[in-house]
Amino acid sequence: MTLKEFWWKGAVIYQLIPRSYADGNGDGIGDFQGLASRLNYLRWLGIEAIWLTPIYPSPLQDGGYDITDFKNIHPELGDLAAFYRLLTAAHNHGIKVILDLVLNHTSSLHPWFQRARWAPKGSTERDVYVWSDDPQRYAEAPVLFRNFESSNWEWDDVAGQYYLHRFLRHQPDLNYENPWVQEQMLGVVDFWLDKGVDGFRLDAVPFLFEAEGSRCEGLPETHDFLKKVRQRVDKHGRDILLLAEAIQPVEEAAPYLADDELHGAFNFVLTAHLFAAVASGKVNQLRECLEKTQHVASVGSWAMPLRNHDELWLGDGHLVPDDVIQSIRAGLHQGHGHWLNWGINRRLAPLLNGDPRANRVLHALLYSLPGMPCLYYGDELGMGDWPGLRDRDPNRTPMAWTSARNGGFSTAPDPLLVLPAVTAPGYDYRVLNVEVQKQLPGSLLNWHRRMLTCRRLLPALRQGEFEILESTHPSVIVYIRYIESMIVLVAANLSAAGASLSLDLTRWKGERTREVLWGCEYPLADDNWFVYLPSYGFSWWLIGEVEETIQNAPGKN
Ligand code: NOJ
Ligand code: CA
Repeated sequence: MTLKEFWWKGAVIYQLIPRSYADGNGDGIGDFQGLASRLNYLRWLGIEAIWLTPIYPSPLQDGGYDITDFKNIHPELGDLAAFYRLLTAAHNHGIKVILDLVLNHTSSLHPWFQRARWAPKGSTERDVYVWSDDPQRYAEAPVLFRNFESSNWEWDDVAGQYYLHRFLRHQPDLNYENPWVQEQMLGVVDFWLDKGVDGFRLDAVPFLFEAEGSRCEGLPETHDFLKKVRQRVDKHGRDILLLAEAIQPVEEAAPYLADDELHGAFNFVLTAHLFAAVASGKVNQLRECLEKTQHVASVGSWAMPLRNHDELWLGDGHLVPDDVIQSIRAGLHQGHGHWLNWGINRRLAPLLNGDPRANRVLHALLYSLPGMPCLYYGDELGMGDWPGLRDRDPNRTPMAWTSARNGGFSTAPDPLLVLPAVTAPGYDYRVLNVEVQKQLPGSLLNWHRRMLTCRRLLPALRQGEFEILESTHPSVIVYIRYIESMIVLVAANLSAAGASLSLDLTRWKGERTREVLWGCEYPLADDNWFVYLPSYGFSWWLIGEVEETIQNAPGKN
């Protein structure tokens, strides 16, 4: 019996911020109308799902993660009808839509919070949030936004009590001990599933419950509630992805992936190790991370981002060891001076010093490792950022579409833009944009498209087993992905120096080997199979004959 394959297995997820992607009505703010007009581009690129950062009404103190109404649309983006049109159009393009589900907190302007602070102490209305007379409660829970907050508690004059906020003070934590809260949030899940969405990215899942004497992360009660979310989702009878944002070590993130809980979780440990590998030019710790990752969760459950709309979160030593953080700090010079909270507040391209080779090798790994590769909007172009903007806004600037005004993002006058379009040297939208890169055969954009095309033609990369092979070179990681009818060999050099090495392919001695991406024959496999990888070079090879033909991989526009 073959097990059912879910749509998200190996799916390439494209994360975008609707407000920053495309402005359809010319008011300077991205919206659903604009996004809908760009679905052709996304289909052309070859991604399979879009994850939209929060689309709900919000005062936007935290990029929309501070919600005032879970069952509505921020008016700047459109309305429920416009959302439905977008969803339908995405589906017509064969693209799935994943929404951000923010369970842990609301905006302090949410009517529930306003009601709670005026309600009598101990009343059911007050009990919707977490209150205390003592701001020392849960003292072991770290302050996450340490650049903005010095405590997880905020005094409220009206309530005469402190309320808990694991994020900004504008984001009070909901009280999950209260069954009413649980039922309301399950109702939110139903609401969006009834609209037809394909999945949720579950924001900040570790923090739902609190317990004295702990970091208040991933407590058993939190897992119990997430299981209820899963049951609710399953009742809808469709394949709906539940993807956890838990910035935790893999052993702590893995429990979310229990059979009766969530389907996927971001692997932020892998993210840190990928950056550490390019920063140091060494792959030993990356290799160890990949081995561990595979053991703790079934192949394919991890979502693999390089960057997202937040800072590159490295943590306080709990997520990855200090030496990993140190090698990133030492090796990625463009991160210096851009530390925010527990990470580095820059986009991918500047962090990699604008080097497209490093962009390619890192994505070549994402596109060939087991799991769901995540591509952050603009990283397919090597788009830059705007350091100096407040909070994490440097990473959230408008998408660069054309050389026209505002990068073709909006026809509005510049001062009205949601955030300024990037004109920083080397990243100016007049040069670096979709329109230009589409026309240059060697552009990063065309490279991403080609890689995604090849990936589609190689089912072993999507569903296959994974095995790391011995590498005799400290900068080169080597592995295979395989299904019964196909073996793909991958080797990647994470250093700026060239690397030559011999691989022991005794297992496949005498078999044909072919480089896939550019269609080049290699010598037959043997025990001393020579490979040269230039600076940040990588290759995907097919070993042996395959039934499916990949000769026609479209590489041209
Ligand atoms: C994680 C989100 O990615 C981040 O942008 C947000 O600030 C926090 N969760 C709080 O919702
Ligand atoms: Ca608009």
